[in-house]
Amino acid sequence: MRSEFLPFSKPQIGQEEIDEVVDSLKSGWITTGPKVQKFESLFTGYTGSPHAVAVNSATSGLHIAYLAAGIKPGDEVITSPMTFISTVSMLVAIGAKPVLADIDLKTLNIDPAQIEKKITPKTKAIVPVHFAGLPCDMDAINAIAKKHNLVVIEDAAHAIGTYYKGKSAGTLSDAAVFSFHPIKNITTGEGGMITTPHPSWHDELMLTRFHGMSKSAWKRYAKGGTPVYSIERLGYKYNMMDIQAAIGIHQLKKLPEFNEKRTRLANAYHKHFTKFPEIRLQQTVTYDHVHSWHLYVIVLDPRKINIHRNDFVGEMGELNIGTGVHFTAVHHHPYYADLLRGQETDLPVSSEVSENILSLPLHPGLDDQDAADVIDAVTSLIKKHSKKAVAV
Ligand SMILES: Cc1ncc(COP(=O)(O)O)c(C=O)c1O
Repeated sequence: MRSEFLPFSKPQIGQEEIDEVVDSLKSGWITTGPKVQKFESLFTGYTGSPHAVAVNSATSGLHIAYLAAGIKPGDEVITSPMTFISTVSMLVAIGAKPVLADIDLKTLNIDPAQIEKKITPKTKAIVPVHFAGLPCDMDAINAIAKKHNLVVIEDAAHAIGTYYKGKSAGTLSDAAVFSFHPIKNITTGEGGMITTPHPSWHDELMLTRFHGMSKSAWKRYAKGGTPVYSIERLGYKYNMMDIQAAIGIHQLKKLPEFNEKRTRLANAYHKHFTKFPEIRLQQTVTYDHVHSWHLYVIVLDPRKINIHRNDFVGEMGELNIGTGVHFTAVHHHPYYADLLRGQETDLPVSSEVSENILSLPLHPGLDDQDAADVIDAVTSLIKKHSKKAVAV
């Protein structure tokens, strides 16, 4: 057993990020300004999306992307139950109705066939979540959207470095929202980015991310600017600071190296765990894709293993390995169980996965010994609790 606790995740911050933050702090300009503009421009270059708008979290990004899409009170929006709560809470904040469509057990992504069943005259949008960094079947989803005249917004919180048929996540729909929370593939402390191909959405997002104000602070206070401004519409305080962008600029440069390491670790896990029938793994898909490996999840099969996920997580902790739970399905949280009562009957796959899923440590700071320790710990618990072991 490991002598030291292995945390589930750890941001990789180097001297370049530290120097750039210090540069911002010393420059006299620490909030939204030239470094945010630079980060946005690097992000459009990386993803190939024509527009990027930096915000202070993916949660706020989802909120204003939904508003830019014209989602209104009473509209229905179809999304996955296997997501972080922001995907649905920001719909509820607008007064829209989240409609959950079940996932595919192999990919853990929303199942396009289930989306089709949930469409009503009130449906306005589909929000696919690229779970763990595996791209959803966007051709199938966009075809459904086209047929029913719906908007598509990717929840790309896990998907920086994800590609679908040669195209980056963030270029596959009307808008996409990325997260730079510290456990994500790259971080800005807290932060998010919205990409969109629509110039009008870009203009709208720039307004709503900062109070609905006609001019950014940078344009008001920088040399040559004018301090006069007007408020054009209801807006929010969702802007990213230059201090955050300073970190992001260098994290984005390191992304290929980070994701290569994640992929190598995920492949090592996969090679080992695939032999155990007691757990299910996220299966890759037949279409051409690149997985960003934001998360490596295992799903315990209660028919083959004698331990509940919560106890498994506890025993992993006793072996000094940190784990995560991504996710408790939306309709299993008490508030949403009430709010969305009745929807659970159509969600058998996500209900079962929700009770049995856990995420293993996966980040570029892990070395081969760390990965071997994770593999040993999971293997020992599978062997200890396998129903096969009991029957023999
Ligand atoms: C799928 C998904 N969507 C949205 C979010 C929200 O991201 P943020 O913490 O940047 O608001 C997360 C964060 O964990 C997420 O996993």
